[in-house]
Amino acid sequence: MGVRRGRGRGVFITFEGIEGSGKTTQLAGVAKLLREEGYRVLETREPGGTPFAERIREMLLGSPADSPSAEPIAPECEASLILACRSQHVARVIEPALREGAVVLCDRFSDSTLAYQGYGRGLDLSVLRDLNRFATAGLTPDLTLLFDLPVPVGLGRRRRKETGQNRLDRESPRFHERVRRGFLDLAAQHPRRIRVLDGRPDPETIAMQVRSIVKKFLQRRQRPVTRHHP
Ligand SMILES: Nc1ncnc2c1ncn2[C@@H]1O[C@H](COP(=O)(O)OP(=O)(O)OP(=O)(O)O)[C@@H](O)[C@H]1O
Ligand SMILES: [Mg+2]
Repeated sequence: MGVRRGRGRGVFITFEGIEGSGKTTQLAGVAKLLREEGYRVLETREPGGTPFAERIREMLLGSPADSPSAEPIAPECEASLILACRSQHVARVIEPALREGAVVLCDRFSDSTLAYQGYGRGLDLSVLRDLNRFATAGLTPDLTLLFDLPVPVGLGRRRRKETGQNRLDRESPRFHERVRRGFLDLAAQHPRRIRVLDGRPDPETIAMQVRSIVKKFLQRRQRPVTRHHP
């Protein structure tokens, strides 16, 4: 657990899981609900979340890294670029929003780096933890929702999406299995922060569970997060 510097009264919630596990769908659903209830909500994602970081995302996930002839990316290079994005995102977007009392909902964060670059690519987990701490200045999520489901189900959903496949979708099933196991390992290490949800049921069933966890979490907070003034 890192020391939280510059943290305001907001709440930081991250959404994690393998490709196609439903992160983006569930994040959008709970964002809408919280806004309707008067919370100030920031929806954001990684890698990306600022204009500069989104440019790095494009290099990491999209073309030309997409084309079969593209230069392979070294795992350390991939990790460094993701962490570079994270520093920019935390400093420019997440911390300011938390200081203003927002509920920040982030699609992937530090756990994805440990799961993908650590468990998936085999980079040293303790090095990645240190680098995460460096990139985030010690910011850790207050709550993490981990959507777990079998790899073939997630990849099958991804293949049906019109947005096409990214560089990571084309990794071997074994890579994605390591990532899935990595996420579950992290959840076992941080049982209070990371809540594991079954990603297989229909979206509305999962949304009800997400809603219940998030609302209970917000209610239990000592200081209520900022609401719009009537
Ligand atoms: N519970 C569900 N059951 C069936 N299909 C779902 C479910 N949740 C989301 N989907 C569909 O599966 C696809 C992937 O969902 P979504 O984009 O939310 O996942 P994700 O975890 O954000 O994926 P990615 O890692 O690719 O960003 C989408 O087409 C979405 O409509
Ligand atoms: Mg998504």
